Amino acid sequence: MLLGTKIIKNSKINIKFAAEILKKNNVIGIPTETVYGLGGRADKDEVVKRIFKIKDRPLLNPLILHYKNSSCALNDIFIDERAEELSKNFWPGPLTIVSRIKSKSISNLVTANLNTLAVRVPGNKTIRDLLQYLEFPIAAPSANRFGKISPTSAKDVLEELKNKIPFILDGGQSYLGIESTIIDLSTKKTSILRHGYITSHAIEKVLNLKLHASSGGKIIKAPGQNINHYQPDVPVRINAKSKRRNEAWLAFGEIQKKSKEPILSLSKKKCFIEASQNLYKMLRKLNKKNVTGIAVQKIPNIGLGIAINDRLLKASKKKKI
Ligand code: TXA
Ligand code: MG
Repeated sequence: MLLGTKIIKNSKINIKFAAEILKKNNVIGIPTETVYGLGGRADKDEVVKRIFKIKDRPLLNPLILHYKNSSCALNDIFIDERAEELSKNFWPGPLTIVSRIKSKSISNLVTANLNTLAVRVPGNKTIRDLLQYLEFPIAAPSANRFGKISPTSAKDVLEELKNKIPFILDGGQSYLGIESTIIDLSTKKTSILRHGYITSHAIEKVLNLKLHASSGGKIIKAPGQNINHYQPDVPVRINAKSKRRNEAWLAFGEIQKKSKEPILSLSKKKCFIEASQNLYKMLRKLNKKNVTGIAVQKIPNIGLGIAINDRLLKASKKKKI
């Protein structure tokens, strides 16, 4: 076991240092605009294996690769006009494209032996600067213990993975706070595997097509998406009208109630972006209070609200032992 995990600032010299550490087969905490990742080089079995081990993640659940630019990312998968249009419109940014794998240099563990690969070009400046020093993509799942709440700050990663990694590169609070949208282009049918900041509507507009019907929030092809996820230690009750005794209250809109239990609002103005920025941060905060559960007010299931509700639904599922 490693002793001591440090948080290091994203100065130029530290970013260069982080690149050297990654080249030497280490796994570290890395910021992105969505959530923090647990990153390592994607071309080495031993490194990828360690990522799974640190997270306690089943090997059947494949990883997303992070690239320095669109041409490197698109070079590793089979592409058509859909991939070209989406990458032009949404990269760098919170969109992950799944397509049939072309690269021969990626570890088979990354894809869990599937014939597809998930790729994205992140928008966060720190990881983009880091990638410029590297000749390989970074494999990075969210930097939480398996099934737990995703981290949106370096401090959150420290809480999740203390003593399991040498350091976390601090890139500030993740700007979006919710994982990337995953789109499946591996067949002629275009479908969403995971909802995120880039909405179905925005994708349909760019591609000028209707997304395949089975995409409506049901994640079938992304293994690992259907199990418990994003879970605090206490139960989460969604679409709540009001809080019950000893529950914390997570509102969407103004807070009226006075209570001895903690009360927070995802967004007093009912702004979806603010709510997604706050979602994991506030669940994490309320999880630490002495409450029997967290009740979450109903959030409209439109636009970015669809991604927020998707995460809350999974957070509210009863734990499978
Ligand atoms: O925003 C994000 O995507 C963050 C940051 C760190 O980039 N990453 C992230 O990774 O959320 P993770 O491992 O927590 O979730 C990745 C999801 C998994 O549910 C996995 O099933 C899916 O992506 N996935 C990865 N490769 C896939 C593939 N080839 N086919 C289908 N789904 C895939
Ligand atoms: Mg995750």
